Amino acid sequence: MKIKKAVLPVAGMGTRFMPATKVVPKELLPIVDKPVIQYLVEEAVLSGIEEIIFVISKNKELIRHHFSHYPELESVLKARNKEHIAEKIRPIHEMAHFHYIYQDEPLGDGHAILQAESLVGDEPFLVLFGDDIVKHDIPASKQLIDQFKGESVIAVERVPKESISAYGVIHPGENQGRLYEVHGLVEKPAQEEAPSDLGVIGKYVCPPTIFEAIREGAASKDGELRLIDGFIKLAEKEGVWAYHIEGERFDTGQAKGLIEANRAFHDDL
Ligand code: G1P
Repeated sequence: MKIKKAVLPVAGMGTRFMPATKVVPKELLPIVDKPVIQYLVEEAVLSGIEEIIFVISKNKELIRHHFSHYPELESVLKARNKEHIAEKIRPIHEMAHFHYIYQDEPLGDGHAILQAESLVGDEPFLVLFGDDIVKHDIPASKQLIDQFKGESVIAVERVPKESISAYGVIHPGENQGRLYEVHGLVEKPAQEEAPSDLGVIGKYVCPPTIFEAIREGAASKDGELRLIDGFIKLAEKEGVWAYHIEGERFDTGQAKGLIEANRAFHDDL
């Protein structure tokens, strides 16, 4: 089944980048000349996605502005013989159909995804977290979608021991090349308790059964509903798979990752 819809939960406050993110959402911080979130939307569109569902909060309206048509700006640029710059702006709102729904309370990424349930309906969909950018000729989302056969596929990468407790970590079973059976998942384990070095990065292909599984998944310690708890629940009933993504991954939710992404994409110009 073709995967046409992507849910991007982007309601978080971005406290790590304050004061830069006092007004500007962290997803709009730039990698060279494009906001981080545009890289993710382009990745999704290049992977066959036609509808983007942003889960935002009231202080994230600038994301909506970024993906809206801005004819006044295009006219001014044209009048000033800057058609080549207008060309960079025009396609942004045409890339996909954009929907915006609100997560009014910070109750976790699982709760954010539940807000998209009626827009997604009864079909598989892609979830992209706002921070994880992968640089590779084959878009990371396409790599995942290509593995989808009806059951969940979660993106993972190999993570050094000292960083593993910042990730969801899979307990892998059999593998065929880069595709692993998932026997279990642990969110942010202590280093010595990590079931492998395969850490989850924020890209997932979900069957619609994930919604019920998120509801069933126990709210994690801090009272938030997490997507990973949904996968833990789902793995009890049906297959869950992990795919070791090819490419260089940047965690743009950290200053270091954002700077490294800027360097890597700038070197490409
Ligand atoms: C989330 C997930 C975690 C995953 C990580 C990847 O954590 O809960 O499983 O490894 O994204 O970016 P967060 O970074 O939001 O704390």
